[in-house]
Amino acid sequence: METDLTFTPEVARATAPLYERVRSIIPEIEWRMHAPYIDAINRLKKEMGAVVLAHNYQTPEIFHCVADFSGDSLQLAREAAKTDAKIIVQAGVHFMAETSKILSPDKTVLIPDLAAGCSLAASITGADVRLLRERFPGVPIVTYVNTSAEVKAESDICCTSSNAVDVVESLGAPRVFLIPDQYLARNVANQTKVEILTWAGSCEVHERFSADDIRAFRKSHPGVVVLAHPECPPEVVAEADFAGSTSAMIGYVEGKRPKRVVMVTECSMSDNVAASLPDVEFVRPCNLCPHMKRITLPKILHALETMTHEVTVDPEIAVRARAAVEAMLKVGSPRMRAHAA
Ligand code: 13P
Ligand code: SF4
Repeated sequence: METDLTFTPEVARATAPLYERVRSIIPEIEWRMHAPYIDAINRLKKEMGAVVLAHNYQTPEIFHCVADFSGDSLQLAREAAKTDAKIIVQAGVHFMAETSKILSPDKTVLIPDLAAGCSLAASITGADVRLLRERFPGVPIVTYVNTSAEVKAESDICCTSSNAVDVVESLGAPRVFLIPDQYLARNVANQTKVEILTWAGSCEVHERFSADDIRAFRKSHPGVVVLAHPECPPEVVAEADFAGSTSAMIGYVEGKRPKRVVMVTECSMSDNVAASLPDVEFVRPCNLCPHMKRITLPKILHALETMTHEVTVDPEIAVRARAAVEAMLKVGSPRMRAHAA
């Protein structure tokens, strides 16, 4: 039987507490379209024993209204490793779903749109990493989680933006590859004595910000606090007041409550934080991640109804990739960085 997706009084009642979370950023007319999906997804999740893991870049109706857990890449990986749910719906991009599958091989991991990729993950293959090993014998290889399972399988250890410095230093080596994000690598190099070698990958969202953009925000919005993601070029990070993972940026705003802030990252982050912090003024640079934006409420509902698209990882690759991800999870708590503007 097809799901009834009309905005009935019952749906309005059932979703009213969720609407309170997003009322300041989602107009009522738009809510009438979202609410039937939200209601259907939340019912199905319960019936099926499924959870939705949502990245911080998901839109507010997903982030605040259907996610059982939201966070940055490291937090999502930790959650995937510990959840008891039989089914994980990854509201994020493909490498995140693969990471969940690698850590929970016995669970069914679904991604609502198989084409939700990542420019960093697409920049390097397992064969490239094997070539680096041949050319640079003995140099440990740290791989950003924004990579395919095959690339993870070829590396010594993974990292995310929130633990990259700690992971690099945990190896005790004078020279380390940190691949494939050239900007994350250069930002890490600025915080450690370890020599960092890298790859020519970049994030198509963060590479578009420039130091001039930051100076322009400061000029047009006096007193604005600038937070940047470490996938931004180092000149951008140097102009910022704080650099950290998506959750570290959220933590900064929640903890310090600046009057005005600009999050130099993907658009939806500001919407998600603004929904719960009406006293903070968000200046919004709008660079959308087209991959994250492929995930929508209708596609999440469809994923649950049809149990698609199941993400699988070749078991031999999964074992080696898991070793690299688990090695990362053993490295201590994330280090955040504050520096003077
Ligand atoms: P975080 O680990 O900081 O959430 O970053 C993931 C990502 O894809 C940023 O572009
Ligand atoms: Fe990949 Fe950049 Fe999109 Fe993050 S924002 S998923 S790094 S393309």
